[in-house]
Amino acid sequence: MQKITFMAFKGGAGKSTALFLMTSVLNRRGIRVGLVDADENKSVLKWERHARGIGTWDDENIKVYDGWGEDRFEEAFEEAERDNPDYLLIDTKGGGSDLNQTAALNADLIVIPTDLGVGEIDIALETMEYVMNLLNAAEMDIPTAFLLSRVVTDDSKFTEANRTAMRIFEDLPAFEGRIPTSAYYKDMAGTGPMNLYADYLRTHDKMTMRARAPQTRLWLNKAEPVVDEILAALPVKELA
Ligand SMILES: Nc1ncnc2c1ncn2[C@@H]1O[C@H](COP(=O)(O)OP(=O)(O)O)[C@@H](O)[C@H]1O
Ligand SMILES: [Mg+2]
Repeated sequence: MQKITFMAFKGGAGKSTALFLMTSVLNRRGIRVGLVDADENKSVLKWERHARGIGTWDDENIKVYDGWGEDRFEEAFEEAERDNPDYLLIDTKGGGSDLNQTAALNADLIVIPTDLGVGEIDIALETMEYVMNLLNAAEMDIPTAFLLSRVVTDDSKFTEANRTAMRIFEDLPAFEGRIPTSAYYKDMAGTGPMNLYADYLRTHDKMTMRARAPQTRLWLNKAEPVVDEILAALPVKELA
């Protein structure tokens, strides 16, 4: 089991969305994922509930663990270790906290989502500094990288401010792939995993709903490269 923690001081940075998207891509590949919800907003638990409501959940391959609070987090982790999914994705709350430290120090990879807004970047840089200090103090070396989210899809549509912002990340650990802005990603919170939602749409009674299936799949496809990049950033596990 390899563990990825999504961290960002700012609420609304795109942590939960990145985790939903990654779950969707992995689920389509038949890969087993565990999701630890370590945010009091319970975004992941709500995601599961909405998905169950419309039948877009996959009990065999996705399991959510309530990890809000240090005791529950510990229990969630132990249970996940017993279940041993291929990947464990950990959603956290904004800000620094003991719980977030635990979530960071127990990961194999730390992903810091951010958009390109000036204020947002500052907070993302603060998050990175927090993580680096934490890792130094713990004498640990866990790969950590920014994930640019809610970014204009097409570079040719970048504003001058966007280009300036992008340059900041050139010298920093950041994934090349980005998560563009999309209403399909925004909607995902209410629809469950995108691959399963696309299946649901495809067979819907309403033609307007059926018409949304191809676009849903297309936007899911767009996320494949960045998910592959995130997986490739995981340290190679030595065979036991
Ligand atoms: N790539 C995106 N495209 C469109 N909306 C997005 C995107 N990423 C996030 N959002 C929206 O922005 C809001 C905050 O995102 P969320 O993932 O919940 O952030 P966090 O978990 O860091 O608080 C949500 O309403 C979400 O739907
Ligand atoms: Mg969240």
